[in-house]
Amino acid sequence: MNILVTGTSRGIGRAIFEALEGHEVAGHSTRGGHSEIAADLSAQGSAQALWAQALERLGGRIDVLVNNAGIFEASPIDLAAGEWAARWERTMRVNLTASAELCRLAVLHFLEREHGGRIVNVSSRAAYRGDSPDHWHYAASKAGMVAMTKSIARAYAGDGILAFAVCPGFTVTGMVDDYIASRGGGAFLADIPLGRPASAQEVAETVRWLAVDAPASATGAVIDVNGASFVR
Ligand SMILES: NC(=O)c1ccc[n+]([C@@H]2O[C@H](COP(=O)([O-])OP(=O)(O)OC[C@H]3O[C@@H](n4cnc5c(N)ncnc54)[C@H](OP(=O)(O)O)[C@@H]3O)[C@@H](O)[C@H]2O)c1
Repeated sequence: MNILVTGTSRGIGRAIFEALEGHEVAGHSTRGGHSEIAADLSAQGSAQALWAQALERLGGRIDVLVNNAGIFEASPIDLAAGEWAARWERTMRVNLTASAELCRLAVLHFLEREHGGRIVNVSSRAAYRGDSPDHWHYAASKAGMVAMTKSIARAYAGDGILAFAVCPGFTVTGMVDDYIASRGGGAFLADIPLGRPASAQEVAETVRWLAVDAPASATGAVIDVNGASFVR
């Protein structure tokens, strides 16, 4: 299958890229390199340019879009109003609007080519649970991704277009011990019944399954990968 995955330079996106070995995958990052397509998704028009380059690289056909690129930047409420709003809008643009623009282009492509297709959006546990006092915008952007995914699933299932979302909890993208220490040590683990954060490979395998193998009837599903730290 021909697959566009955003944000493959590191972390979960890199693990998704590796999990999709055997498929034709166009990777992406802000500045490109390592054969990734460059596109800063905070910039207007960048999603369109990314889609066009990915189409060219993949021979004019894309079967699956994985929206993984995202930012987690603080916006404390005691910032000046303009700065708080600017941070809100930057997070919304990268996490939600750029993802939406890519979903739109994917749906139009799938409809035009009449071959159906799949979309997998990497959301977050924060979509359902909320996030820290400095990250209202992050939680809202991820909740928006879930609502968008469900809307696409309901609108286009009859056209063979399937849409899924994945909601990871804390996910280790580097050294586990360093990660746990950075979150305040063992107390942070007490909130995770599984006793550890998810690995990037676990999230990647969930994305791979949805992108390639999940049955059509599962369209609209949102899968949690959080060690039962938030069960809904
Ligand atoms: N890690 C977690 O605990 C966790 C939990 C729940 C959900 N998630 C979600 O999972 C996804 C991946 O998270 P991660 O932890 O793997 O993140 P990460 O290690 O910070 O990697 C983020 C990826 O997104 C790209 N990106 C960031 N800003 C961008 C921009 N302005 N334009 C284009 N690309 C940009 C980065 O590219 P560059 O290298 O070029 O910056 C990188 O490839 C995100 O959507 C995140 O919200 C993560």
